[in-house]
Amino acid sequence: MHHKINLCVIGAAGRLGLCVLNALLHSEFLGKFNLVGAIVSKQSAHQNQSVASLSDLQTKLRFTNDLSQLLASSGDIIDIIIDCSLPESSLQTVKLIQQTKLVSKKLVLCATGFSSEQQEAIRQAANFLSIVFVPNASIGMNLTHALAKYAAKKIPELTDIQILETHHVHKKDAPSGAAKQLANSIEQITGQFPTIRSTRVGETIGEHTLLFNLNGEQIQLTHKALDRSIFALGALRAATWVNQVTQPGFYTMEDVLFLNAK
Ligand SMILES: NC(=O)c1ccc[n+]([C@@H]2O[C@H](COP(=O)([O-])OP(=O)(O)OC[C@H]3O[C@@H](n4cnc5c(N)ncnc54)[C@H](OP(=O)(O)O)[C@@H]3O)[C@@H](O)[C@H]2O)c1
Repeated sequence: MHHKINLCVIGAAGRLGLCVLNALLHSEFLGKFNLVGAIVSKQSAHQNQSVASLSDLQTKLRFTNDLSQLLASSGDIIDIIIDCSLPESSLQTVKLIQQTKLVSKKLVLCATGFSSEQQEAIRQAANFLSIVFVPNASIGMNLTHALAKYAAKKIPELTDIQILETHHVHKKDAPSGAAKQLANSIEQITGQFPTIRSTRVGETIGEHTLLFNLNGEQIQLTHKALDRSIFALGALRAATWVNQVTQPGFYTMEDVLFLNAK
């Protein structure tokens, strides 16, 4: 029998982090992971609070704000770190792990809104670590991305292309990571960077529409996230996938979902 994957979640008390904790109970992942760390920020009100009090998990584990201390004490047993915090602290995670020789070299980065310098630093780190870069962990959104790339290859040259994205008012970055990723792919194929329109309204989990405006007709490709758990399930799928990877590298959900396979 395979041993359980020892998991540490960073940003564990945030919206996405808590979803990842609860997704450990989903039938697809039940019994496959062993939660060994739940990290919050230095300023967090949740420091030392029991994980069971905020999530559905039955565990004695408490949220802690000291990642270096956890790495020093349990670094050798952690297999995978899923970082659900924000870009700045995700980058600190990457640096800390590079410095800690004992520790797992496998990371799933779920934050969005990295600057191009920060992304470059992550790519550099991926020479030594296995990093899955996951600005949108939803399986449906990644399939939408694959369909969009297919459509972009087939459309006539003079097509006006736009992306509309809507998220909840708490989202810190705009445009969304998924919209930027979509736009970059379209640009690589068509030479045209689509206009992106971002809307922040209510508690909308996430909606992306890609518009191809042809002469006298329009194609719309829309993905709607109806439940935040889809991101958490995708993140755990990425963690399960990268656990099998033997080489350092910069990986994406396209690798996890085999979307590049012919
Ligand atoms: N990849 C995807 O599919 C996906 C899906 C949804 C969201 N996201 C992205 O994921 C990120 C988090 O989103 P969210 O909605 O969960 O936001 P959130 O609720 O604000 O959660 C962020 C968490 O990060 C924690 N944090 C900040 N600095 C930290 C540090 N130095 N060490 C440890 N934890 C730290 C905060 O902790 P405290 O509260 O403890 O201070 C907070 O709980 C955003 O970038 C968002 O855009 C990605």
